[in-house]
Amino acid sequence: KRKVILDVDTGADDAVAIMLALLAPELEVIGICSVNGNREVRLTTDNTLRVLDLLGRGEVPVYRGCEYPMVSTLKPGRKPNIPWREGMMTGVEALVHGDHLEIPETDLKEQEECAVSYLVHALKNAKEKITLIPVGPLTNIGMALRVAPEIAENIEEIMIMGGGFLTNNSSAVSEYNVWVDPEAAEIVMQSGCKITWVPLDATHECYLTTEDAAEIRKLGTKTADAVAAIIEKRTKGYSNDVDMKEYSGAPVHDALAVCALLDPTVLTEVEEVNCHVDIAAGYADGQTCLDRRMRTNKEAPNCRFAMHADREKFRSMVIDILKLADR
Ligand code: BDR
Ligand code: CA
Repeated sequence: KRKVILDVDTGADDAVAIMLALLAPELEVIGICSVNGNREVRLTTDNTLRVLDLLGRGEVPVYRGCEYPMVSTLKPGRKPNIPWREGMMTGVEALVHGDHLEIPETDLKEQEECAVSYLVHALKNAKEKITLIPVGPLTNIGMALRVAPEIAENIEEIMIMGGGFLTNNSSAVSEYNVWVDPEAAEIVMQSGCKITWVPLDATHECYLTTEDAAEIRKLGTKTADAVAAIIEKRTKGYSNDVDMKEYSGAPVHDALAVCALLDPTVLTEVEEVNCHVDIAAGYADGQTCLDRRMRTNKEAPNCRFAMHADREKFRSMVIDILKLADR
Protein backbone atom coordinates (compact mmCIF):
# COMPACT_ATOMS: atom_id res chain seq x y z
CA LYS A 1 0.00 0.00 0.00
CA ARG A 2 1.14 3.50 -0.78
CA LYS A 3 1.39 5.67 2.35
CA VAL A 4 -0.30 9.03 1.85
CA ILE A 5 -0.92 12.21 3.81
CA LEU A 6 -3.87 14.32 2.71
CA ASP A 7 -3.81 18.09 3.16
CA VAL A 8 -7.33 19.46 2.95
CA ASP A 9 -9.55 22.52 3.39
CA THR A 10 -12.79 20.55 3.68
CA GLY A 11 -14.91 21.78 1.74
CA ALA A 12 -17.40 19.70 -0.17
CA ASP A 13 -15.06 18.39 -2.88
CA ASP A 14 -12.34 17.80 -0.29
CA ALA A 15 -14.84 15.60 1.57
CA VAL A 16 -15.26 13.40 -1.51
CA ALA A 17 -11.48 13.23 -1.94
CA ILE A 18 -11.06 12.09 1.67
CA MET A 19 -13.73 9.43 1.26
CA LEU A 20 -12.14 8.02 -1.90
CA ALA A 21 -8.66 7.98 -0.35
CA LEU A 22 -9.92 6.17 2.75
CA LEU A 23 -11.85 3.61 0.72
CA ALA A 24 -9.22 2.88 -1.95
CA PRO A 25 -7.45 -0.37 -1.04
CA GLU A 26 -4.22 0.80 -2.70
CA LEU A 27 -3.77 3.71 -0.26
CA GLU A 28 -2.96 3.90 3.42
CA VAL A 29 -3.94 7.33 4.75
CA ILE A 30 -1.53 7.79 7.65
CA GLY A 31 -2.64 11.31 8.54
CA ILE A 32 -4.77 14.23 7.41
CA CYS A 33 -3.70 17.87 7.75
CA SER A 34 -6.27 20.66 7.63
CA VAL A 35 -5.60 24.14 6.38
CA ASN A 36 -7.22 27.53 5.97
CA GLY A 37 -8.88 27.69 2.55
CA ASN A 38 -12.51 27.10 1.67
CA ARG A 39 -13.25 28.23 5.21
CA GLU A 40 -11.21 29.08 8.28
CA VAL A 41 -9.12 26.22 9.59
CA ARG A 42 -11.36 25.64 12.63
CA LEU A 43 -14.20 24.68 10.25
CA THR A 44 -12.09 22.77 7.73
CA THR A 45 -10.73 20.71 10.65
CA ASP A 46 -14.20 20.05 12.00
CA ASN A 47 -15.51 19.13 8.55
CA THR A 48 -12.64 16.68 8.13
CA LEU A 49 -13.40 15.00 11.46
CA ARG A 50 -17.06 14.72 10.49
CA VAL A 51 -16.13 12.92 7.28
CA LEU A 52 -13.95 10.46 9.19
CA ASP A 53 -16.75 9.79 11.65
CA LEU A 54 -19.23 9.19 8.84
CA LEU A 55 -16.94 6.53 7.41
CA GLY A 56 -16.21 5.01 10.83
CA ARG A 57 -12.52 5.89 10.44
CA GLY A 58 -11.99 7.91 13.60
CA GLU A 59 -8.59 6.29 14.10
CA VAL A 60 -7.04 8.34 11.29
CA PRO A 61 -5.27 11.28 12.98
CA VAL A 62 -6.18 14.82 11.96
CA TYR A 63 -3.71 17.66 12.50
CA ARG A 64 -4.93 21.24 12.42
CA GLY A 65 -2.80 23.39 10.15
CA CYS A 66 -2.17 27.01 9.36
CA GLU A 67 -4.73 29.66 10.16
CA TYR A 68 -3.41 32.15 7.59
CA PRO A 69 -1.52 32.04 4.31
CA MET A 70 2.22 32.75 4.54
CA VAL A 71 2.27 36.22 3.00
CA SER A 72 -0.62 36.92 0.64
CA THR A 73 -3.00 38.65 3.04
CA LEU A 74 -0.27 41.20 3.80
CA LYS A 75 0.09 42.28 0.18
CA PRO A 76 -1.13 45.67 -1.01
CA GLY A 77 -4.32 45.17 -2.95
CA ARG A 78 -5.14 41.96 -1.15
CA LYS A 79 -7.62 42.10 1.68
CA PRO A 80 -5.90 42.20 5.08
CA ASN A 81 -7.97 39.19 5.97
CA ILE A 82 -9.48 36.28 4.11
CA PRO A 83 -12.69 37.24 2.30
CA TRP A 84 -15.31 35.12 4.05
CA ARG A 85 -14.36 36.57 7.42
CA GLU A 86 -15.45 39.91 6.01
CA GLY A 87 -18.79 38.50 4.99
CA MET A 88 -18.03 38.61 1.28
CA MET A 89 -18.56 34.96 0.60
CA THR A 90 -22.26 34.48 0.24
CA GLY A 91 -24.78 32.66 -1.90
CA VAL A 92 -23.44 30.86 -4.92
CA GLU A 93 -19.87 31.63 -3.98
CA ALA A 94 -20.28 29.94 -0.63
CA LEU A 95 -21.88 26.93 -2.29
CA VAL A 96 -19.17 26.61 -4.88
CA HIS A 97 -16.32 27.31 -2.53
CA GLY A 98 -17.18 24.93 0.26
CA ASP A 99 -20.04 25.41 2.60
CA HIS A 100 -20.08 23.90 6.03
CA LEU A 101 -20.95 20.31 5.20
CA GLU A 102 -24.32 18.80 5.91
CA ILE A 103 -22.71 15.85 7.62
CA PRO A 104 -23.63 15.08 11.24
CA GLU A 105 -21.58 16.56 14.06
CA THR A 106 -18.84 14.50 15.64
CA ASP A 107 -17.12 14.02 18.98
CA LEU A 108 -13.87 13.17 17.24
CA LYS A 109 -11.00 15.47 18.17
CA GLU A 110 -7.96 16.68 16.30
CA GLN A 111 -4.43 15.82 17.53
CA GLU A 112 -2.54 18.24 19.76
CA GLU A 113 0.40 18.50 17.37
CA CYS A 114 -0.06 21.05 14.60
CA ALA A 115 0.05 20.02 10.95
CA VAL A 116 3.39 21.66 10.14
CA SER A 117 5.14 19.93 13.04
CA TYR A 118 3.46 16.64 12.10
CA LEU A 119 4.62 16.89 8.48
CA VAL A 120 8.19 17.58 9.57
CA HIS A 121 8.26 14.69 12.06
CA ALA A 122 6.38 12.18 9.92
CA LEU A 123 8.58 12.86 6.89
CA LYS A 124 11.88 13.03 8.80
CA ASN A 125 11.18 9.71 10.51
CA ALA A 126 9.61 7.97 7.53
CA LYS A 127 10.95 4.46 6.91
CA GLU A 128 9.50 4.51 3.42
CA LYS A 129 8.71 7.50 1.24
CA ILE A 130 5.34 9.18 1.69
CA THR A 131 3.06 10.67 -0.97
CA LEU A 132 1.34 13.99 -0.29
CA ILE A 133 -2.06 14.88 -1.70
CA PRO A 134 -2.66 18.58 -1.08
CA VAL A 135 -6.09 19.73 -2.22
CA GLY A 136 -6.19 23.09 -0.47
CA PRO A 137 -3.77 26.02 -0.22
CA LEU A 138 -0.20 24.74 0.16
CA THR A 139 0.56 26.66 3.37
CA ASN A 140 1.28 23.66 5.64
CA ILE A 141 3.58 21.95 3.15
CA GLY A 142 5.34 25.22 2.27
CA MET A 143 5.93 25.92 5.97
CA ALA A 144 7.20 22.39 6.61
CA LEU A 145 9.63 22.72 3.69
CA ARG A 146 10.86 26.01 5.15
CA VAL A 147 11.36 24.47 8.60
CA ALA A 148 13.07 21.32 7.28
CA PRO A 149 13.87 21.38 3.54
CA GLU A 150 15.43 17.93 3.83
CA ILE A 151 11.98 16.36 4.20
CA ALA A 152 11.73 16.64 0.40
CA GLU A 153 13.93 13.53 0.20
CA ASN A 154 11.27 11.45 1.90
CA ILE A 155 8.43 12.68 -0.28
CA GLU A 156 7.59 10.11 -2.94
CA GLU A 157 5.39 12.43 -4.93
CA ILE A 158 3.10 15.44 -4.49
CA MET A 159 -0.23 15.25 -6.29
CA ILE A 160 -1.64 18.78 -6.12
CA MET A 161 -5.17 19.85 -6.91
CA GLY A 162 -4.55 23.42 -7.92
CA GLY A 163 -3.45 25.76 -10.64
CA GLY A 164 -4.89 26.44 -14.04
CA PHE A 165 -3.65 27.06 -17.56
CA LEU A 166 -6.67 28.11 -19.64
CA THR A 167 -9.21 27.67 -16.86
CA ASN A 168 -9.09 29.77 -13.70
CA ASN A 169 -11.45 30.83 -10.94
CA SER A 170 -10.00 33.34 -8.49
CA SER A 171 -8.49 35.95 -10.75
CA ALA A 172 -8.15 36.14 -14.51
CA VAL A 173 -5.12 33.85 -14.30
CA SER A 174 -5.17 32.12 -10.93
CA GLU A 175 -6.86 29.18 -9.30
CA TYR A 176 -8.17 29.37 -5.74
CA ASN A 177 -5.77 27.06 -3.84
CA VAL A 178 -2.73 28.73 -5.39
CA TRP A 179 -4.23 32.22 -5.23
CA VAL A 180 -4.79 31.92 -1.46
CA ASP A 181 -1.11 31.19 -0.83
CA PRO A 182 1.09 31.73 -3.89
CA GLU A 183 4.32 31.85 -1.87
CA ALA A 184 3.69 28.42 -0.36
CA ALA A 185 2.95 27.01 -3.81
CA GLU A 186 6.19 28.45 -5.20
CA ILE A 187 8.18 26.96 -2.31
CA VAL A 188 6.69 23.58 -3.20
CA MET A 189 7.62 24.13 -6.86
CA GLN A 190 11.22 24.81 -5.88
CA SER A 191 11.46 21.80 -3.54
CA GLY A 192 12.77 19.41 -6.19
CA CYS A 193 10.01 16.91 -5.39
CA LYS A 194 8.19 14.93 -8.04
CA ILE A 195 5.08 17.04 -8.60
CA THR A 196 1.89 16.55 -10.59
CA TRP A 197 -0.63 19.35 -10.97
CA VAL A 198 -4.30 18.44 -11.29
CA PRO A 199 -5.47 21.88 -12.43
CA LEU A 200 -8.86 23.36 -13.20
CA ASP A 201 -8.33 22.53 -16.90
CA ALA A 202 -8.60 18.85 -15.90
CA THR A 203 -11.12 19.06 -13.06
CA HIS A 204 -13.66 21.08 -15.04
CA GLU A 205 -13.74 18.32 -17.64
CA CYS A 206 -14.59 15.81 -14.92
CA TYR A 207 -17.88 17.34 -13.85
CA LEU A 208 -20.47 15.08 -12.23
CA THR A 209 -24.16 15.52 -12.89
CA THR A 210 -27.42 15.01 -11.02
CA GLU A 211 -27.78 11.75 -13.01
CA ASP A 212 -24.43 10.64 -11.62
CA ALA A 213 -25.62 11.61 -8.14
CA ALA A 214 -28.74 9.47 -8.60
CA GLU A 215 -26.63 6.50 -9.63
CA ILE A 216 -24.40 7.00 -6.59
CA ARG A 217 -27.40 7.26 -4.26
CA LYS A 218 -28.54 3.83 -5.44
CA LEU A 219 -25.46 2.34 -3.75
CA GLY A 220 -27.48 2.75 -0.56
CA THR A 221 -24.78 3.64 1.99
CA LYS A 222 -24.47 6.75 4.17
CA THR A 223 -21.24 7.52 2.39
CA ALA A 224 -22.86 7.32 -1.05
CA ASP A 225 -25.76 9.47 0.18
CA ALA A 226 -23.33 12.12 1.39
CA VAL A 227 -21.48 12.16 -1.94
CA ALA A 228 -24.75 12.34 -3.88
CA ALA A 229 -25.89 15.28 -1.75
CA ILE A 230 -22.59 17.08 -2.33
CA ILE A 231 -22.84 16.62 -6.11
CA GLU A 232 -26.45 17.82 -6.18
CA LYS A 233 -25.64 20.89 -4.13
CA ARG A 234 -22.58 21.73 -6.18
CA THR A 235 -24.51 21.27 -9.42
CA LYS A 236 -27.04 23.84 -8.22
CA GLY A 237 -24.24 26.21 -7.28
CA TYR A 238 -22.54 25.92 -10.65
CA SER A 239 -25.75 26.19 -12.68
CA ASN A 240 -26.45 29.53 -10.98
CA ASP A 241 -23.09 30.76 -12.09
CA VAL A 242 -23.78 33.01 -15.10
CA ASP A 243 -20.70 31.97 -17.00
CA MET A 244 -21.56 28.32 -16.73
CA LYS A 245 -25.13 28.17 -18.03
CA GLU A 246 -24.15 25.42 -20.43
CA TYR A 247 -22.60 23.37 -17.70
CA SER A 248 -24.73 20.36 -16.80
CA GLY A 249 -22.91 19.38 -13.63
CA ALA A 250 -20.19 20.43 -11.25
CA PRO A 251 -16.52 19.59 -10.95
CA VAL A 252 -15.49 17.73 -7.80
CA HIS A 253 -11.94 19.04 -8.14
CA ASP A 254 -10.18 17.42 -5.22
CA ALA A 255 -11.53 13.94 -5.90
CA LEU A 256 -9.70 13.91 -9.24
CA ALA A 257 -6.33 14.26 -7.48
CA VAL A 258 -6.98 11.05 -5.52
CA CYS A 259 -8.13 9.24 -8.67
CA ALA A 260 -5.02 10.44 -10.52
CA LEU A 261 -2.85 8.75 -7.93
CA LEU A 262 -4.79 5.51 -8.27
CA ASP A 263 -4.82 5.58 -12.07
CA PRO A 264 -2.62 8.22 -13.72
CA THR A 265 -4.37 7.64 -17.07
CA VAL A 266 -7.44 9.50 -15.77
CA LEU A 267 -5.34 12.58 -16.56
CA THR A 268 -4.72 13.15 -20.26
CA GLU A 269 -2.32 15.33 -22.22
CA VAL A 270 -0.05 15.59 -19.21
CA GLU A 271 2.82 17.95 -20.03
CA GLU A 272 6.28 17.75 -18.53
CA VAL A 273 6.86 21.45 -18.10
CA ASN A 274 8.53 24.10 -16.00
CA CYS A 275 6.13 25.85 -13.65
CA HIS A 276 6.71 28.75 -11.30
CA VAL A 277 4.00 30.47 -9.33
CA ASP A 278 3.73 34.23 -9.68
CA ILE A 279 4.18 35.88 -6.29
CA ALA A 280 4.56 39.46 -7.46
CA ALA A 281 1.26 40.72 -6.05
CA GLY A 282 0.18 42.16 -9.37
CA TYR A 283 -2.56 41.06 -11.73
CA ALA A 284 -0.95 37.63 -12.08
CA ASP A 285 -0.45 36.89 -8.37
CA GLY A 286 -0.97 33.16 -7.91
CA GLN A 287 -0.73 32.24 -11.59
CA THR A 288 0.83 28.88 -12.40
CA CYS A 289 3.22 30.13 -15.10
CA LEU A 290 4.08 27.36 -17.53
CA ASP A 291 7.16 27.69 -19.70
CA ARG A 292 5.81 26.45 -23.02
CA ARG A 293 8.12 28.55 -25.18
CA MET A 294 9.03 26.92 -28.46
CA ARG A 295 12.68 27.39 -27.61
CA THR A 296 15.42 24.96 -26.77
CA ASN A 297 16.61 27.24 -23.97
CA LYS A 298 13.39 27.19 -22.00
CA GLU A 299 13.54 26.23 -18.32
CA ALA A 300 13.82 22.52 -17.53
CA PRO A 301 10.60 20.72 -16.54
CA ASN A 302 9.97 20.56 -12.79
CA CYS A 303 6.48 19.08 -12.82
CA ARG A 304 3.74 17.36 -14.75
CA PHE A 305 0.67 19.46 -15.57
CA ALA A 306 -2.55 17.82 -16.75
CA MET A 307 -4.18 19.74 -19.58
CA HIS A 308 -7.18 17.42 -19.78
CA ALA A 309 -8.84 14.50 -18.04
CA ASP A 310 -11.11 11.58 -18.87
CA ARG A 311 -14.58 12.24 -17.42
CA GLU A 312 -15.91 8.73 -18.11
CA LYS A 313 -12.97 7.12 -16.39
CA PHE A 314 -13.27 9.49 -13.43
CA ARG A 315 -17.00 8.85 -13.11
CA SER A 316 -16.62 5.09 -13.06
CA MET A 317 -13.68 5.23 -10.67
CA VAL A 318 -15.71 7.29 -8.19
CA ILE A 319 -18.64 4.88 -8.37
CA ASP A 320 -16.45 1.76 -8.12
CA ILE A 321 -14.58 3.09 -5.10
CA LEU A 322 -17.81 4.14 -3.37
CA LYS A 323 -19.08 0.56 -3.80
CA LEU A 324 -16.41 -0.44 -1.26
CA ALA A 325 -18.05 1.59 1.54
CA ASP A 326 -19.79 -0.57 4.13
CA ARG A 327 -21.73 2.23 5.79
C1 BDR B 1 -10.19 24.33 -5.26
O1 BDR B 1 -10.64 25.39 -4.45
C2 BDR B 1 -11.46 24.90 -3.42
O2 BDR B 1 -12.60 25.68 -3.32
C3 BDR B 1 -11.81 23.48 -3.78
O3 BDR B 1 -11.94 22.70 -2.61
C4 BDR B 1 -10.67 23.04 -4.65
O4 BDR B 1 -9.64 22.47 -3.87
C5 BDR B 1 -10.65 24.56 -6.68
O5 BDR B 1 -10.17 25.77 -7.16
CA1 CA C 1 -10.02 21.95 -1.55
